Amino acid sequence: MGLRNPFRISVDKKTGWLLWGENGPPNVWAPGTTISKKELPMGYDEFNLAKGPGFYGYPLIITDQQAFTNYDFEKKKALPKFDPEAPVNDHSGNTGIRELPPSQPPLVWYQNLQKEFPELGSGGESAIAGPIYRKKSSFPEALRLPTQYEDCWIIGEYSRGWIKAIQLSDDVELEGILPLLPKLKLGKPTNLKIGPKGRVHVLYYSKGAGFLVRLENPGQVAGTTPYRYLLSNDKPPKQLAKLPGVKLMSKSDCYNCHNWKQLAIGPKFADIAERYQRDKDAEAKLTMKVMAGGGGVWGEIPMPPHPLMSEKEAREMVKAILAMKELSGKRKKK
Ligand code: HEC
Repeated sequence: MGLRNPFRISVDKKTGWLLWGENGPPNVWAPGTTISKKELPMGYDEFNLAKGPGFYGYPLIITDQQAFTNYDFEKKKALPKFDPEAPVNDHSGNTGIRELPPSQPPLVWYQNLQKEFPELGSGGESAIAGPIYRKKSSFPEALRLPTQYEDCWIIGEYSRGWIKAIQLSDDVELEGILPLLPKLKLGKPTNLKIGPKGRVHVLYYSKGAGFLVRLENPGQVAGTTPYRYLLSNDKPPKQLAKLPGVKLMSKSDCYNCHNWKQLAIGPKFADIAERYQRDKDAEAKLTMKVMAGGGGVWGEIPMPPHPLMSEKEAREMVKAILAMKELSGKRKKK
């Protein structure tokens, strides 16, 4: 009770706790009233964890027990603020209980740059709750998250584009907030789940396309995404657009799995170019790999072979991919 817009709820199977991201109201919002904006709390988002039934405040109380001002709509008059310890719902349309249980504060609350929680950064607010990461014996060591994430609550931020882990103390208080694989630049995460092998699956949006990626220890990323999403994916950089390899790739199946600057099933071409930038043999090696297929370099998923492709065609494609590095190199020198 007392929620505004719980977004992505999750139930912890081990404890039965209910977890949710609470999407708060717009800032200083009391349409049709004479309440001064100064009187109003900001439109905080929250991360909430309920161990049992409770009243979570909205729309009388928000965040760490900040109260909204009561209002008499007939007399158009502001009344005293609600009391977080003993909130009373005296609205004429109320058909339920009048005296509510005390308001329960959230675990984390934030509005732009929140001084209590600098780990969350700044920006808009759109809290997404994921599950608590409970280690299972069925999770292979090579794939599951590092020990520091065990028993952490995985959370995401749709507006800010991050995924983090809330550390909980033994008495289920907030102990810390860890970044989860900080090198990953995701778009807007909307859903977080733990897969059967202990990897965190993240559904997210980036520039109009949807992606499903998996986060795994030690920070490798293998993505899977429905084929149709990929067709609208990013274009090659302008400088490369005329290379013969780029044309050949658009006629082949490469873009079903690869992107230039975004993760997909296969690694992004920008990362491939960077990885092999100092490898003299890269062109020959990768040409063979494109023709023969294979896996194990970037993750578990193998690339299928391309038996009908000539070596010349494969080499042109690889040249175009590796040319990506020269571009980012030039940019860096400026
Ligand atoms: C069905 C998905 C799929 C398709 C289609 C595909 N790839 Fe890949 N590609 C992958 C995966 C997955 C990897 C990572 C393999 C690994 O970890 O060794 C990869 C790796 C690569 C690499 C890096 C290999 C290495 O050893 O680091 C290159 C270069 C590459 N792909 C080019 C291409 C080109 C060019 C095409 C089109 C002709 C293509 N790929 C088509 C999935 C695909």
